Amino acid sequence: MQTNRMWCRIKNMRDFAIDLARRAGALLRAGYEQAHTIEYKSSVIDLVTEVDRASEALLVNTIRQQFPEHAILSEEGHGNHGPALYAWIIDPLDGTVNYAHGFPFFSVTLAVSRDGLPCLGVTYDPLRDELFVAERGTGATLNGRPLHVSKTSRVQDALLATGFSYARAIIKDNNLAEFNRLMPRTRGVRRAGAASLDMAYVAAGRLDGYWEMYLAPWDWAAGALLVEEAGGVVTGFDGKPWQPGRDRIVASNGHIHAELLRELAEARRGP
Ligand code: IPD
Ligand code: CA
Ligand code: CA
Repeated sequence: MQTNRMWCRIKNMRDFAIDLARRAGALLRAGYEQAHTIEYKSSVIDLVTEVDRASEALLVNTIRQQFPEHAILSEEGHGNHGPALYAWIIDPLDGTVNYAHGFPFFSVTLAVSRDGLPCLGVTYDPLRDELFVAERGTGATLNGRPLHVSKTSRVQDALLATGFSYARAIIKDNNLAEFNRLMPRTRGVRRAGAASLDMAYVAAGRLDGYWEMYLAPWDWAAGALLVEEAGGVVTGFDGKPWQPGRDRIVASNGHIHAELLRELAEARRGP
């Protein structure tokens, strides 16, 4: 499959996506630290606010107007599925629990895939005004500056991040074994609560690696492309290249990848 820049490119799509992420980000910023209407989804810890929904409405309606033939997959369910060459994959507010608590770590994140493969990713942190953009085959940028993963070569020198599923109270395979294994063997494992930014931070060299289980496509689509385009590596827990449909992701600077996979495998083998 041809995967160079032209393969993915639609005229103005990158600028359109950036502008849209900034507009949705402004909406998130305006609603931050206000009182919110909280509803519950899969469990009592899985929240959605009126701001998630307003951000999604803005994103979906604007994309529909501009690209009516494209599919849209969006977390709060207002997309239109169905066969299409291009699909937009959207998380209108990644880090909803943080947002609802006034914890300043959240983003709007969107990606465009062609034939199921992400080719454009945009993640915007509106509080820091940090715009992460990746286009397949052309690299990744933060506010226009090229991004590169870190050079850390040993897990013991690494700063990692992870996250936990909303089903963590009821599933046995809930990532605590992996967390307990890695925490004492690294400089730290952060659980900051927004997968899109965790991966953007790996791309930016602020983190050396990240892993998580049971992510949805809107959580990883832009982030995985950012890491790859910044020179990093993204795989499943088995080390095979990352592909849509897999449910365990490991993203790193590449240098620590094999060792990180070994540690995760050890954790899963048990005591
Ligand atoms: C969640 C965050 C969190 C991750 C969860 C995601 P949401 O997304 O990215 O860091 O651990 O797996 O579901 O619900 O805030 O959009
Ligand atoms: Ca999310
Ligand atoms: Ca979300």
